[in-house]
Amino acid sequence: MDKLLATGGGPLKGRVRISGAKNAALPLLISSLLTEETLRISNIPHLHDITTTMELLGQLGVKLQVDEKLAIEADASEVSSVIAPYELVKTMRASILVLGPLTARFGHAEVSLPGGCAIGSRPVNLHIKGLEAMGAEIKIENGYIKADTGGERLKGARIFMDLISVTGTENLMMAAALADGTTVIENAAREPEVIDLADCLNAMGAKVSGAGSDEIIIEGVERLGSADHRVIPDRIEAGTFLVAAAISGGEIEIHDVIPRQLESVLDKLRESGCAVESGDNWIKLRAPEGTLKSVNIRTAPYPAFPTDMQAQFVLLNAIAEGTATVVETVFENRFMHVHELQRMGADIELDGNTAVIKGVGGLHSAPVMATDLRASACLVLAGLIAEGETIIDRIYHIDRGYDCIEEKLAQMGAMIRRVPGHYLSRQSA
Ligand code: UD1
Repeated sequence: MDKLLATGGGPLKGRVRISGAKNAALPLLISSLLTEETLRISNIPHLHDITTTMELLGQLGVKLQVDEKLAIEADASEVSSVIAPYELVKTMRASILVLGPLTARFGHAEVSLPGGCAIGSRPVNLHIKGLEAMGAEIKIENGYIKADTGGERLKGARIFMDLISVTGTENLMMAAALADGTTVIENAAREPEVIDLADCLNAMGAKVSGAGSDEIIIEGVERLGSADHRVIPDRIEAGTFLVAAAISGGEIEIHDVIPRQLESVLDKLRESGCAVESGDNWIKLRAPEGTLKSVNIRTAPYPAFPTDMQAQFVLLNAIAEGTATVVETVFENRFMHVHELQRMGADIELDGNTAVIKGVGGLHSAPVMATDLRASACLVLAGLIAEGETIIDRIYHIDRGYDCIEEKLAQMGAMIRRVPGHYLSRQSA
């Protein structure tokens, strides 16, 4: 299994282009299930989760064509299966997103329960409850969620989400697009990726309004048509590079980004002492001359501070001046990176969903293991500033969600490379 080898070194400097957002691209590709006509999605990032989504759609009978610029044309005119198998769902929880579209268009769907997850139990009860409110009968059998509409169309409904759920909102929005009547989703997720999906659905002929607010109204239509849609930039990839520049004392410019989608992150970077400027589609960051100042963080749904940037800011605090608390309110078990950072010399105490971090100025290298997508990004960044050579194992997590991370970091001067697992075992033997 490949590993990343990072050598702590100088500041990151230069420019980097931000790829399309993983969390937007996945539901967008899956929305192709709602139409018999061709959906073209461009600015698709080169990621393992995209390959998994293509495999899943392929198994359902969707014909996919990828061009050399990574635009994908999806033709779901001849769907041959409505079953999302465990083998795929277990590697990517977002597979649950096929449940709404399949049930809405074909009246039946079977999707494996996602099972355990490294960052908490992550149930899908809200997806199920919403579809039941729209008239689907749902049974859980042999580890599968089986939805059936008894040959009827789904019916518009008023749905209150007890908890704000991003994929829950997306799943129900897609289902409601083809339902009979009007659906209102209250306490909806306001993430930019939800808006991107609503924009694409509307381009396909849906009638969705209010995306980006906590109440989304969907007037169901009988059928959806074709569309050509470009995926929004990945705000989490952007935020990750900005933290990399901040902690390495660097100065970078990122392009193809929507700065207003990163407000909460940019605020915290300014508070830590970085100079941040932005324009239409770019952000420049210059780290402070002296040390970074620690910043308190509390994660919450958009527009508050994203849980997907929590690990990177735990790292920033680990080397900053002062003591900070980081409170994780979205997922119950999302601090696995803390134990790895402690092995690199960080002074962090965990108490439930709160990490208290005393800045120690610098870290030293250690062999570390990635445990989930964002934790692994934090460890890669830690390797870039730690003294010595850090080996990061289990990097398949990072390949799920970061497009060419080592190439992009190397382009800004980072000393990082991918090595086959056996190469390192031979070296250490
Ligand atoms: C999405 C993102 C993920 C991000 C997360 C929170 C995608 C593909 N993934 O994940 O990167 O970290 O939003 O911003 O877009 N919950 C329930 N019942 C449900 C659904 C969710 O209790 O039916 C809980 C979850 O356990 C969690 C919270 O709600 O505690 C938020 O989860 P949710 O927004 O659904 O996360 P995802 O959509 O899976």
